[in-house]
Amino acid sequence: MTPKDAIKTRAGIDRTWWKEAVVYQIYPKSFNDTDGDGIGDLRGIERRVDYLDDLGVDAVWLCPVYESPQADNGYDISDYRSINDAYGDMDDWRRLLSTLHERDIRLIMDLVVNHTSDEHEWFQRSRQGDSEFKDYYIWRDGTNNGGDPPNNWESVFGGSAWTYDEVRGQWYLHLFDEKQPDLNWRNPDVRESVYEMMNWWLEKGIDGFRMDVINLISKTNGLPDGDEDGGLTGAEHFFNGPNIHDYLREMRDEVLSDESLLTVGETPGAGVDDARTYVGPDGDGLSMVFQFEHVSFDHDEHKWDAGDWSLVEFKQIIAKWQNGLADEGWNSLYLNNHDQPRMVSRFGDDSTYREESAKLLGTLTHTLQGTPFVYQGEELGMTNASFASPDELRDVEAVNFVEEALEQGDAASYDDVRDAVEYVGRDNARTPMQWSDAPDAGFTDGEPWIDCNSNYETVNVEHARADENSVWHYYQDLIELRHDRDVLVYGAFDLLVPNHPAIFAYTRTLGDERGLVVLNFGTDPVEFVVPDSITLDELELALANTDVPTAPRPAFELGPYEAHVYLTP
Ligand code: GLC
Repeated sequence: MTPKDAIKTRAGIDRTWWKEAVVYQIYPKSFNDTDGDGIGDLRGIERRVDYLDDLGVDAVWLCPVYESPQADNGYDISDYRSINDAYGDMDDWRRLLSTLHERDIRLIMDLVVNHTSDEHEWFQRSRQGDSEFKDYYIWRDGTNNGGDPPNNWESVFGGSAWTYDEVRGQWYLHLFDEKQPDLNWRNPDVRESVYEMMNWWLEKGIDGFRMDVINLISKTNGLPDGDEDGGLTGAEHFFNGPNIHDYLREMRDEVLSDESLLTVGETPGAGVDDARTYVGPDGDGLSMVFQFEHVSFDHDEHKWDAGDWSLVEFKQIIAKWQNGLADEGWNSLYLNNHDQPRMVSRFGDDSTYREESAKLLGTLTHTLQGTPFVYQGEELGMTNASFASPDELRDVEAVNFVEEALEQGDAASYDDVRDAVEYVGRDNARTPMQWSDAPDAGFTDGEPWIDCNSNYETVNVEHARADENSVWHYYQDLIELRHDRDVLVYGAFDLLVPNHPAIFAYTRTLGDERGLVVLNFGTDPVEFVVPDSITLDELELALANTDVPTAPRPAFELGPYEAHVYLTP
């Protein structure tokens, strides 16, 4: 019996590789360019597999690399079975897969099946009325003698969710950009085509799927008007829609019966109760979901009205998800990705305490129960960028927002919306990965498709790896600690001091293994008084982002953004 099996017997752990894994998310367009066209590519990723291995991650989630006109950077797929030219070809992809697998790093592919590109053959044939494909998408006649959209649903990217197509003489639904028509999941042929395509990828040896907006695939029958009282109009008719569980269960039966696959569903608008219906054997079988509560509680009605946030509320949300999925299901752990601002700019301090707060936030995501996702550059403490003019923006969502604000008179000039764009815009996360202080951060020899963050001369991989106190080395330690200590993976979570405005503290418990994590989310020093329920003399310091004594005292002070992890030896 190996030591790990012994623990399993002792604590009754149901071991699963993806619960013990740390996943690294790659946004290929911005990761590493090898052919000088200013766009990252698959060979560029392959060259950095040793980098990922050194960091210690167990899996890569690759954002879409499929053929695509790139209206939404690849989330608009025109051919699910081929690779976008700018990224390389299928041979490059195969080599990447085998190079990753040689290092025991698994590969999770992005699955985008709420919609395709309007340049996908299915849509082209559908708009022609081709009998095989005519019901592959959601087509309707307009209202008002056809002149107005069929209903009042709004697109996530602004404006109506409907576009009139001259060829077909009807309107089609697109919950995102007009170049991303929604597939009609009521049509069994659509579902069969999707499952075939998924099986085709699985046969190539991939290890799972990240499922783009998967809880949006089912729309209310009859497509009724949505409630206009705030938020995205129509959302109640397509978020967690009526047939969603039938579709996901069918997908499980047809494609995902191998339980060793990692499946993570992106589920905007899903609460804990919804999540429990998606994950685990009693739900639809997904391994986990990406929930949004903790990355949208700082928005007002609209994401661009980003407001203040309080640590007390943040802790409440995290604790709710930790507890809500503790026994059934599993959490994903993330604070940023390609759609969110850089976490250190949002939840930390991206100037004076950039490194301290990046380490603190990493400590949080690696010591909660769930699977941590590290978004490229997070391990360096990369920050939000600056976009001095709208010409510097690339993201369709941000471009539409600025255009609409100007058109509708909500803003007199770009300067009126610049703060919002720089706080919450998606381009913040999409600036090139900062490899070195060479021109354009060593990302490309050409002209990058989006400008680099100007701080690359100091914030970059080369510097970080040479400095043993860097965020990078701290992430390496965090990942190693998680691999070594089951209590950090499987242990029960208990929140301490829920109402403290600056301290985020909790315990983890697994059999007789224990952990105590204490984080100061602020720039003022604070005192933490260890609750009586915790036996101090059994704990030892396992990791901290500053020099601290090796054993906790009954009360101790934490400096700005200080993070401590104590474990039973
Ligand atoms: C998801 C993706 C995002 C994309 C959208 C439409 O939210 O993460 O990048 O724009 O779906 O596919």
